[in-house]
Amino acid sequence: MKHKLIPVAHPVFAGNEKKYVNECLDSLWIASGEFIPRFEESFARFCGVPHALACNSGTSALHLALMALGVGPGDEIIVPTLTYISTANAVRYCGAKPVLADSGARTMTLDPGSLESRITPRTKGIVVVHLYGHPADMDAIADVAARHGLFVVEDCAEAHGALYRGRAVGGLGDAGTFSFFGNKIISTGEGGMVTTRSAALYRKMRLLGGQGMDPARRYWFTVVGYNYRMTNIEAALGLAQLEQIDKHLAGRRAVVELYRRHLPQNLVELPAEEAWARHAFWMFTVRVKPEARIGRDELMAALDRDGIETRPVFYPMHLMPVYEEPCGTYPVAEDIARRGLSLPTHGMLTEEDVVYISRCIQRACTRSDAAVTP
Ligand SMILES: Cc1ncc(COP(=O)(O)O)c(C=O)c1O
Repeated sequence: MKHKLIPVAHPVFAGNEKKYVNECLDSLWIASGEFIPRFEESFARFCGVPHALACNSGTSALHLALMALGVGPGDEIIVPTLTYISTANAVRYCGAKPVLADSGARTMTLDPGSLESRITPRTKGIVVVHLYGHPADMDAIADVAARHGLFVVEDCAEAHGALYRGRAVGGLGDAGTFSFFGNKIISTGEGGMVTTRSAALYRKMRLLGGQGMDPARRYWFTVVGYNYRMTNIEAALGLAQLEQIDKHLAGRRAVVELYRRHLPQNLVELPAEEAWARHAFWMFTVRVKPEARIGRDELMAALDRDGIETRPVFYPMHLMPVYEEPCGTYPVAEDIARRGLSLPTHGMLTEEDVVYISRCIQRACTRSDAAVTP
């Protein structure tokens, strides 16, 4: 008998989501409306910054931040090769060049030691990514950035609620960007947010994301802008989700503790959480050890047959046609991408689910054909 499907992600709407969305529908305020500033203000407080701007995706959030920081043709922006495609694409949207850098083996995030060799007179900034929810080593990165006069944008699409030395991500660089796509820690379906301490940057991003319309004069356009606005319905969902975020984060952490207890650690390497970090555990991403008698792709296929959804680690940018670098060497990113897979990570998982997943991994990695009892 096939086991029930265990999804890799699972949104949870257990708070005011329906109430707030119904308020939008009942009031007919579906596009603009009061939930947008309420969500922005709450999110800014959550990140410990004065300004947050809601937008329609994490990708548009990145594009807005880079445009407002003045990125344009001829500029080079350092991004990790191990990230989701949007980080590099947003640089390209500005006509600039993404310059790739390797990651650290423990955190899987941008390696500060790899930065200096990537800097040229054209380098304008760095986009760090708090990959899978673990914060990057921001002090070391900020130190390099300060010495070379570079801006730092934090791509926090996967890291709502992560802390670096006790401080919330999204408030550690010149700007922070978040995604609320359906599989994220909190979700609005599609959606994003940019956070910043700079009032000037916030005003620029607001102008650019609102079609370039002068805030003081309706239908008067001063720059070529974009329609990157979030809807009131999405903001209603987002506000309700944000009200519950501590529960969402605690639920993930409880599942991670179960994984730590039950997974066969002789066969899979578990993600690190540095002493200076609070991991948000968007995805619990493990690496298949050489001791396992199976490759990552075979393991994913075996788990799929057992009804367990997984995701491979992102392909490094330099290995894909769009950003291919035939001579690029990023050994850490390549190793993580070859061996890494994300297991189901959400607060709806039970201990029984985690035990089942762990036993299926054990069986697949030791090639025992014994059935795992659900
Ligand atoms: C690291 C990273 N950056 C950016 C994004 C883009 O976010 P969105 O899908 O909301 O455009 C994602 C989303 O999946 C992501 O994982």
